[in-house]
Amino acid sequence: MTDLIDSLPTDRDLSDDEWRFLIEGDYDRQRLYDKADKVRRQHYGTDVYIRGLIEISSFCKNDCLYCGIRRSNAKAGRYRLSREEIYACCAQGYELGFRTFVLQGGEDSYHTTEWVAGIVSSIKERYPDCAVTLSLGERPREDYEIWHKAGADRYLLRHETASRPHYQKLHPPEQTFEHRMECLYHLKQIGYQTGAGFMVGSPFQETKELIADMRFLREFQPHMVGIGPFIPHHDTPFSDCSSGTLEQTLTMVALTRLILPQALIPATTALGTIHPQGRELGLKAGANVVMPNLSPVAVRGQYSLYDNKICTGEEAAECIGCMKRRVAAAGYRITIDRGDVKLF
Ligand code: SAM
Ligand code: FES
Repeated sequence: MTDLIDSLPTDRDLSDDEWRFLIEGDYDRQRLYDKADKVRRQHYGTDVYIRGLIEISSFCKNDCLYCGIRRSNAKAGRYRLSREEIYACCAQGYELGFRTFVLQGGEDSYHTTEWVAGIVSSIKERYPDCAVTLSLGERPREDYEIWHKAGADRYLLRHETASRPHYQKLHPPEQTFEHRMECLYHLKQIGYQTGAGFMVGSPFQETKELIADMRFLREFQPHMVGIGPFIPHHDTPFSDCSSGTLEQTLTMVALTRLILPQALIPATTALGTIHPQGRELGLKAGANVVMPNLSPVAVRGQYSLYDNKICTGEEAAECIGCMKRRVAAAGYRITIDRGDVKLF
């Protein structure tokens, strides 16, 4: 079966047994990571793209059972950045070399369609050479269209799990798998560079769910894929669950690189949280993006999705300096570029 790794990437779908072997089998994972790294270098060389992450609100009307900022968590600190604060983050980010700004937040009803559109168009006016990525959850198709017209280039909406029964175990009944998926298809149809993604090691997840994730990615062909370990948050129903592991997460990053050779795949903050070298190891297993935090340090601790999140005390300049050293030590190079997906 280890010949299977040599045969990747392949156009054919793998069988259940083949997927099962690759995901949980007893074999030398370094071979898989090296193969993923080789494929990543064929398409992107040693370039690592940086995205300036601006966490614009910790208010959320959703109640995902795993998330520290879920609406039922009465202990969560809540904040919302003003327009001026967001522009100040962008100004600082631009100086530091960022050419993509990611506006991410809980699903905050204060963020009306017009409010977000105004901010997107203003950022694009100030920085025409920059890409704007939104990650503001599930919205009506019309909102996505208006924001795209306002200039938003990309949208991140992790599918979280490609199994409907599993999705239902992670979310309350009013949050449906169908709606999440419908939003993803809308985003792609509208013309966004679209990001899907999932947590590794989330409660109730088994290998069959990870196989479903791989099959969904193959079918949907997202441009970006965010993959991070699940990490418990002490004030959620999953507080006693264990985190996803480093090996399992790196395996899924590498397999994703092999089924989507051109994808933009971040080495996530969550990966850096479960292991001191997690992000470097992610890069060496096929990831090619890092997302240092540009949010004001005063509010960082309140965007608490899971426990022990790293980089909550560092200023943006310290974070990018640290990231540059880490990326270089891993054998790659941070690139000052919008970092769009390379399509044939
Ligand atoms: N509200 C937007 C959305 O739903 O896409 C963006 C913000 S949401 C908090 C960003 C991502 O954080 C989610 O897609 C989820 O995968 C991740 N996340 C939330 N809680 C987590 C946890 N306990 N461990 C790891 N990742 C988590
Ligand atoms: Fe943020 Fe190291 S990347 S402090």
